[in-house]
Amino acid sequence: MSVRTQRDGAIGWIVLDNPAKRNAINGGMWRAIPPAMKGFDADPGLRCVVIRGAGTEAFAAGADISEFEQARASQEAVRGYDGALEATLAALEGSPRPVLAMIHGYCFGGGLEIALACDLRYSGESGQFAIPAARLSIGYGVRGTSRLVATVGHTRAREILYTGRRLDAREALSIGLVNGVTPDSELEDRVREIASQLAENAPLSIQASKAVIEAVVEPHGDFSRANEAVRRCASSEDYKEGRRAFMEKRKPRFQGK
Ligand code: COA
Repeated sequence: MSVRTQRDGAIGWIVLDNPAKRNAINGGMWRAIPPAMKGFDADPGLRCVVIRGAGTEAFAAGADISEFEQARASQEAVRGYDGALEATLAALEGSPRPVLAMIHGYCFGGGLEIALACDLRYSGESGQFAIPAARLSIGYGVRGTSRLVATVGHTRAREILYTGRRLDAREALSIGLVNGVTPDSELEDRVREIASQLAENAPLSIQASKAVIEAVVEPHGDFSRANEAVRRCASSEDYKEGRRAFMEKRKPRFQGK
């Protein structure tokens, strides 16, 4: 379970590699992405980055819930964990290069947060999208939620977050959650084709467009109440119940405290 990187011509690859858990992202993996991006950002020959999951079963089935009991047990631990997650999103959004998400299968929770932090998202027909935070009593972060709203609008964002339901690749395309859908067998070729196109175009022009778009998408409200509400989830009894229920493969019983 790791994050692998590879340079292939003008394209840098980041692979989320934890296939036994559907590429669920653990603390070590969150912490590995910012330095990987830093390395790519400093590489003058690189023109774009692609992120994918290992294999074709999943992009990532969210954060690794099995380590929540330890890694997100206290408020302080949650702050450290969420800080690493936040640094990952900032590294993707702040890169001067365009970053593409290549999505097979499950793209859930924190996995979708990573995909949303990318510039472009391409899915195979197997793509499935969901934010099951409300099934676990997790407060989905301010940054990821803002990005979701900016991408699909608040009406759809509410439905995705409140219900936790799954969207297939076609529905994700129809609401603008992904840029394109192809048969799984053609996905890598399609992504390589787009990456090559980006690599041929003027890097400074793309960098300028990205900087403007990021400034427009960046939320500018007062998020103190929102941050407090997210933190409250992490110290709740329901959050303990949510992660235990997942590990015990049963339905959670939430009480709102
Ligand atoms: N964290 C930790 N472990 C995870 C995981 C996650 N986010 N997602 C999957 N796994 C583990 C499962 O516990 C299972 O482990 P086991 O083999 O030791 O029992 C293994 O990966 C395979 O998952 P399984 O549920 O058996 O596969 P599936 O193909 O039937 O279902 C999912 C795949 C993604 C639909 C299902 O695993 C799931 O709902 N995962 C949780 C998604 C989630 O809530 N993510 C948000 C986290 S914030």
